[in-house]
Order: sequence, then structure tokens, then C-alpha cells
Amino acid sequence: MKIATLSLAAALAAVTAGVAGHAEAATVKLFCGATDYDLCSSAAEAWAKQSGNSVSINKMPASWDDAVPLYQQMLAAKSTDVDVLVIDVIWMGMLKNHLLDLGTMVPKEEVAAHFPTTIDAATIDGQLLALPWYMDTGLIFYRKDLLEKYGKAVPKTWTELTDTAKAVQDGERKAGNADMWGFVWQGKSYEGLTCDAIEWVASTGGGTIIDAKGDVTIDNPKAAQALTLAHSWVDTISPPGVLGYDEESSRAVFESGKAVFLRNWPYVWGTSQTAGGALVGKVGVAALPVGAAGEKSSGCLGPAYLGVSKYSENKKEAVDLIRYMTGAADQKRRAIQGAYNPTVSALYEDPEVLAKLPFLKDTQAAFADSVARPSAATGASYNRVSQAFSKSVHAVLTGDEQPDAAVAALAKELDRLRQRAKW
Ligand code: GLC
Repeated sequence: MKIATLSLAAALAAVTAGVAGHAEAATVKLFCGATDYDLCSSAAEAWAKQSGNSVSINKMPASWDDAVPLYQQMLAAKSTDVDVLVIDVIWMGMLKNHLLDLGTMVPKEEVAAHFPTTIDAATIDGQLLALPWYMDTGLIFYRKDLLEKYGKAVPKTWTELTDTAKAVQDGERKAGNADMWGFVWQGKSYEGLTCDAIEWVASTGGGTIIDAKGDVTIDNPKAAQALTLAHSWVDTISPPGVLGYDEESSRAVFESGKAVFLRNWPYVWGTSQTAGGALVGKVGVAALPVGAAGEKSSGCLGPAYLGVSKYSENKKEAVDLIRYMTGAADQKRRAIQGAYNPTVSALYEDPEVLAKLPFLKDTQAAFADSVARPSAATGASYNRVSQAFSKSVHAVLTGDEQPDAAVAALAKELDRLRQRAKW
């Protein structure tokens, strides 16, 4: 009898707490990337404090490629363990069936504040699947002090970059700087290499692997020419280890003062210019070089987004959280504190943002010319396309395959894939 009374009381207490807990506060579960973990988690926590909810934050794998299988597994199982997802622009087609349509949940003027290209890329079959969070494009970071020391201009073509990197590297090594390299980038076989290589190929006039109609275009002499030049960098101006570098390992080499040029995303402005850092005042940022005069600088376009899982049990709160995190105020904070480029276009005229990120002028031009990876044309097959591309580029870089043969074989493989996947 006593026991029954107690358990009834306990049950009632639990029900009351549960009901009250739900009405008063939700715990929104989100992912934050490893690189901007502090900026992301502090925003989520600020929202939690302001809204009276709480957040539970999971770190994404350091390489975004590794997040894809994790997301797919959770979403296929309709897991309620995640409400908010960090989404790379190229995953939109793959995740579309699992993301909440935000179209009716976010005010129109809030949507219209973002660059239209970013909204277009997140809209599939009329559904707005995610809110743009930051703009990304490939850029060149360079040692301003060393270019001045050797009387060199900021390179406009990849050949100029190759020559300048070699001249400065040789000069520095002669002066006793034995570990100096000319150029570091992302040479590991993963999505990062797809970005680097599409930049070399597109800026040489060799296209973007697959065109907007879905036709495979990679088998062409300009693409082979771009890969030939990249292969020549390995172990001359780039350390042999570059073939295993991702964004963070290449950044580490540059920021420890051991490289003249670095290809990376805008966040490196923030990390390299943090007060007290060895390179404060010594770094310049430019649009990527071109392969030949008359071609366009072709930084890889990579906006990041936040979206809400269809299986979330806290949809309303989750949407509220992503509106906060992608809103102008927090994008401004991310720009000032972490050099993340806003997707809210008005922030490009904000004096405080411009004072902190003087290079935004140049990156805006770089954004205008940046190239999209063929994710729209290939949809759910994009990952396989990208993996086939980065694998074959990697084989050229290691010298295992010749550029002409590699692009020809890749084109055949992609054509077969297209027939099966019917993109
Ligand atoms: C950056 C870009 C993303 C790209 C990734 C490759 O995170 O924003 O679009 O896929 O780098 O490593």
C-alpha cells in the first residue's frame, strides 16, 4: 500500500515535471563544427539564455566528409538525437528528404537578407531546406613581408605563383630558413582536394567536372594542363606531406611561418591575425590566381548552412535557434571575432565588419567569380562524383597516373555512374 502510494506520487511528479519541462524549456540538440566550435557553441548558449531553453552540443568530425555517413545514419533512423544540423552546400540534394521546409516558418524579409545565390542553393522543389550561415570561397593567403623583401608582386597566374614561391623559398633557405616551403594547400584525397583541384581546372578554362546539364566535361586538355602544373609543385614548392594535408594541417604550416603561400578558406584571416600571433601584420589575402590570362579566378564556392531535422521533437525551438545563429547580429559577431564571411549582404557595408576584415573587398570579388561544385546537377550522386574526382587527382599528384590518362579514365567512370544514377 505504502509502495503503491509512493509510486503514484512519483509518477505524478514525473508527469508534472515532464509537462512543465516541455512547456517551459526544450533542450535543442545541435552539431557545431570543430574549427568554429567556440563561436558556434557560444551563439547557441546565448540563444538558450535569452529564450529560456537549453542546448546540447555535439562536435562534428574534424573532416566534414566524415559527418556525411553520421548524418545519413541518424536521419535514416529518424533519430531524435539531433535537431539542428550544420550543412555544407553540396549536401543539400542528399539530405533534402530529411530536412524541415523552413519556407513558412521564417519571415520573408529575413530570408531576403541573405545573398540570393545562397538561398537558391538551399531551395529544392520550392522548399527552403536550410538558412545560410557563412560564405566560403577559396582564397590565397600570402606572406606580405616576404613578397616585399624579395620585390615580388602578388601573383595573378598560377605560373607566377609557382615562380614566386620558388624564388622566395630558395632565398629563405639560403638565408638559413631551412624548413621554408613555397606553397601549401589541401592535397589529401577528400572533399577539400575536390575544391582545390576544381579551382585549378576551372581557372585554366577546363570546366567544373560536370556542367549544369549534367554532362561530363572533365576529359579536356586544359584540365590535364592544370593537373600537370599542380603535380609539378609536389616536392618542389610544396612539401611531400601536402598529399596528406587538409585545411588545418596546411594552415599549421603557414602559421608556423614555414610557407610563403597558403590556399585556404577565409577563416584563416581570423586565426592568423589573432593578437599576439607570429604573423600579425605580415599576411595578405587575394583572389586565387588564374591558369591563363583571360580566365577567371575560380574560388570554390562553399557556403555553410544550418537546417532542422524533420524528426526533431523541438521543431519550433530549433527553428528559433537557427534564426538566431544565422541572423545579422550573430553573423556580425562571427565576422568580427572569427573572420567568417557573412551571407547577410548588408554586413558587407558595415563599418565595424570592414574595419576588422579589410580583405572583404577582395573576397567579394572572389565570391562573384567563384565556381560551384557540380552538386546541383548530380544531386544524391554528388559525393560519389567528388570522391572519384579527388581520387584521380590524387593519383596524378603522387605520379601514379598521367594527367591525360587520368581525366580520360575519370570521364568514363563518371559517364557510367551517370547512366546508373540517371542524373
Ligand atoms: C569548407 C567549405 C566546404 C567544403 C569543405 C572542404 O568547409 O565551406 O564547402 O566542402 O571546406 O573541405
